[in-house]
Amino acid sequence: MAKQEDVLQPIHSLCKRRGFIFQSSEIYGGLNSCWDYGPLGIELKRNIKDSWWNEMTLRSDVEGLDSSILMAPRVWEASGHVENFTDPLVDCKKCRARLREDKLEIGKDGKKVCSSCGSTDLTEARSFNLMFKTFMGPLEDSASVVYLRPETAQGIYVNFHNVATSMRKQVPFGIAQIGKAFRNEITPGNFIFRTREFEQMEMQFFVKPGEDDKWMEYWKEKRWDWHIRMGINPQKLRFHPHGPGELAHYAKSAFDVEYEFPFGWSEIEGVHNRTDFDLGRHQEYSKKNLQYVDPQNPTDKYLPYIIETSVGADRFLLAALCDAYHEDAANERIVLRFVPALAPVKVAVLPLSKKPELEEISKPLFDSLATKMRAQYDSSGSIGKRYRRQEEIGTPYCITVDFDSINDKAVTIRHRDTMEQTRVPLDKVDEFIAQGFKNWSR
Ligand code: GAP
Repeated sequence: MAKQEDVLQPIHSLCKRRGFIFQSSEIYGGLNSCWDYGPLGIELKRNIKDSWWNEMTLRSDVEGLDSSILMAPRVWEASGHVENFTDPLVDCKKCRARLREDKLEIGKDGKKVCSSCGSTDLTEARSFNLMFKTFMGPLEDSASVVYLRPETAQGIYVNFHNVATSMRKQVPFGIAQIGKAFRNEITPGNFIFRTREFEQMEMQFFVKPGEDDKWMEYWKEKRWDWHIRMGINPQKLRFHPHGPGELAHYAKSAFDVEYEFPFGWSEIEGVHNRTDFDLGRHQEYSKKNLQYVDPQNPTDKYLPYIIETSVGADRFLLAALCDAYHEDAANERIVLRFVPALAPVKVAVLPLSKKPELEEISKPLFDSLATKMRAQYDSSGSIGKRYRRQEEIGTPYCITVDFDSINDKAVTIRHRDTMEQTRVPLDKVDEFIAQGFKNWSR
């Protein structure tokens, strides 16, 4: 059986080759589970984050927030992270691998098996807290311990009243946030799937108790639609409901959006009904009244229930990469079939030669396109190689300027997936691209 990491090898190597993702601190041998996004990776990630942000905030009932990574340590006591945010850690006595006990397979003799060497000679499991600790100020003592946030959600809960009051929001309403989170994972891996530093896109929707089931259904549907619009193959998406054994103690119901990665079905997003647990705990620990008072009926006071949608930007990016990655053996090419909204480069201008009479057309065309969308200009190498380069980074359209362009004032636009070529007058290029993006299908 192929090792889990190996099934991602073609994608991993494309990411490095084409400037999507590099190993962090590579020239120093790398830092395990930390990754740097290169020029195309950051464009892809930005497109994902922009699309999520617009989806969430281009509506009247959701506001945005950017809370700090370091928060008062009491926040993490109230949230339960200090006490409960742990994984069971075991060491393999034979190969010394550090492993998450709950993820290990059980062998024939009923004992857990080391996933690294197959031994069953493991230490007793001990709880390992996943929060990264650091110190605030010059003293490194217990009074100055602070944590790097393991989720962005708590920054939203503690600002519930600030946002409601300053923006005159009435329940139901939501708060959206994109930001870094940190978890000292015992077994990071599968490239950017599980890392110790990652970005979350979280939206917490505050509702009146009793209306929570309705809103849960609403957000489940909305989130599913978003994944489909981002081009993810619906056959590779499913909801996984949390059973009684999986459900967090504070959650009334929870669903994972799972994607079928090359290494199997795994969570990319969680949609949770967190009840009034979070605001209740912060009310208890901060001793501040966090009740919401209905302005229409001031006797109606309650702690809102929270419907949470939480998706990892990096993890979704990996799903988008896996879903778009296509080895087209018949045409000896690798294509990233991103929907145009995600494609890091939208269009490439490729003059057939570097002759000045062609550049007189191709350069102004590129300059004009580059003011409206991310474009590349490439005039070196054979046209076949240039197409291959653009296909590998997922550019939807390549525009070729040839010698006929001098007389007919037209160019050839090539569709990435179908390879169909259309002759388009220069003054109709913008319209052709806009229309093509609108009607794009895979
Ligand atoms: N506030 C809820 C929360 O944090 P979670 O299921 O622990 O819930 C939500 O995380 C999402 O964050 C996951 O579905 C995943 O996409 C992403 N995520 C969690 N841990 C991650 C890690 N170590 N590396 C990359 N992404 C991670």
